[in-house]
Amino acid sequence: MGTLPPVNADASLADLDAHHHRLMASLRTEGPVAWLAAMNGWVVLTRDLAAEVMRDPVTFTVDDPRFSTAQVVGPSMLSLDGAEHRRHREPFASALRPSEVARRDAGPTTAHARRLVETLHPRGSAELRRELAGPLAVSVAASALGLHDVHTDELLGWYDAIVAAVDGVAAGGGVSESGAAAFDSLAGALRRAADQPGSLLHDVSGVLDDRELVSNAAVFLFGGIETSEGMTANVLHHLLVHPAELALVRADPNLIEAAVEESLRLEPAAARVDRYATRDVELGGRRVAAGDLVIVSLAAANRDPSHFDEPDEFRVQRANARNHLAFAQGPHLCIGATLARVETKAAVRAVLELLDDVRLTAPVTTTGVIFRKPVALHAAWTSG
Ligand code: HEM
Repeated sequence: MGTLPPVNADASLADLDAHHHRLMASLRTEGPVAWLAAMNGWVVLTRDLAAEVMRDPVTFTVDDPRFSTAQVVGPSMLSLDGAEHRRHREPFASALRPSEVARRDAGPTTAHARRLVETLHPRGSAELRRELAGPLAVSVAASALGLHDVHTDELLGWYDAIVAAVDGVAAGGGVSESGAAAFDSLAGALRRAADQPGSLLHDVSGVLDDRELVSNAAVFLFGGIETSEGMTANVLHHLLVHPAELALVRADPNLIEAAVEESLRLEPAAARVDRYATRDVELGGRRVAAGDLVIVSLAAANRDPSHFDEPDEFRVQRANARNHLAFAQGPHLCIGATLARVETKAAVRAVLELLDDVRLTAPVTTTGVIFRKPVALHAAWTSG
C-alpha cells in the first residue's frame, strides 16, 4: 500500500482520490461537518445530516452561478430549485416512473445486457467496465431518450467533449470551443428525436420549450451514463472480490437485488452532490456562511457507523442497506434510479448465468472524487 498520506482537513485532491473512504472516516471523527480546503467547501459526513441538507432546498440550493454543468448545458432540473425545478423535472420524472420503466425499458434492457455478455463469452476474458458496463450504460440512456439514429461512438465523443468542458469550467476556465461544438451536435440529435411521435422527448416537447428540452435531455445523459457504468462495474467488482458473498448470491439469485443495494451503499457511483448555502446557518455545530459551498458526501453518509454496522464491509444480507443515499434525497432524488437498477441487475444476472467460473485476473483500483468506479475490471471465465 505504500506510505499513507496525512489524513486531515488539508488533504489534497490526490489523497481524496486514492484514500477517499479512509479520509472521510477520519474527518468524521471530528464532527458531522468539516471544512475541506482542497474542495473549498464544507463536507457533510453523516447520513442523517446529509439527508437533511438534501431535503432543504430553501437553505441549501443548487441554483448558483458557480454550478459548472449549467454554464455548459444551460439551466436544467439539475441547476434549478422550487417551481421552475418542478416544471423542468416533471415530464422526465414521469416518463421514468417505475410502471413506465417496467413497461417500456425492462425487456429491451435485460435483452441488451444478455447480448453484450453473450458476445464476450467466446473470448474467455474481457475488461468488464469498458466492454460491458460502459456500452450498456450508453445504450440504455440513449434508447430511453429515443436517440436511435446516433452511433454509440459518436454519442460518447460528444459526451467526452462536454464532460471536459464542464471540468474546464469547474477549474475556473471558460466554455471550450470543442465543448460548445459537441453540445450543438448533441442538441441537433435531441431535436430530431423530439420530432418522432411516441418518443419520450416528443412528449416532453409539449411541456418544455426547445432550449429547455435540450438542456434537460443533456443532463439526463450526463446523469445516466457515467453513474450507471460505475454502478454496474462496482457491484461486479464487489461480488468478484468477496467469494463468500458471491456464493450466497449464486445459491439464491434473488439476492442479486440486495447485492446491488449493498454495493450502492459501499461505493455510490456519484460520491457527492453540491449545494450552496442561501443564508448564514449552523450545520452540525459549524457556522456556514451564506454563499458557502456545502458538499454532501454520499460516500461518507453511506458508511456512517452510527447508521450501518461495520460500514466498510460488503455484506449482501445487510438488513438496512437500502437506507443508503446513493440516489440522493429530496427534490433532486435521481429520476433514473429505477432504470439504473434494472440495468445493473440485468448485467449482474447475465454475468453470473453466462460466464462460467468468472473471476478477476488483475488487482482492481477504484478512483474518483466525484464519480467513483474501478479503473479497470479485468476478468476471465471458462468459455469451452
Ligand atoms: C439510467 C440512468 C440514470 C439517469 C437517466 C439519471 C438521471 C438523473 C437526473 C436527470 C437527475 C437530476 C434530477 C434533478 O435534479 O431533479 C439525477 C440526479 C441524481 N442521480 Fe441519477 N440518473 C441515472 C443513474 C444514476 C446512478 C446510477 C446514480 C448513482 C449510483 C445516480 C445518482 C444521482 C444523484 C446522486 C442525483 C442527485 C444530484 C443532485 O442532487 O445534485 N444516478 N439523475
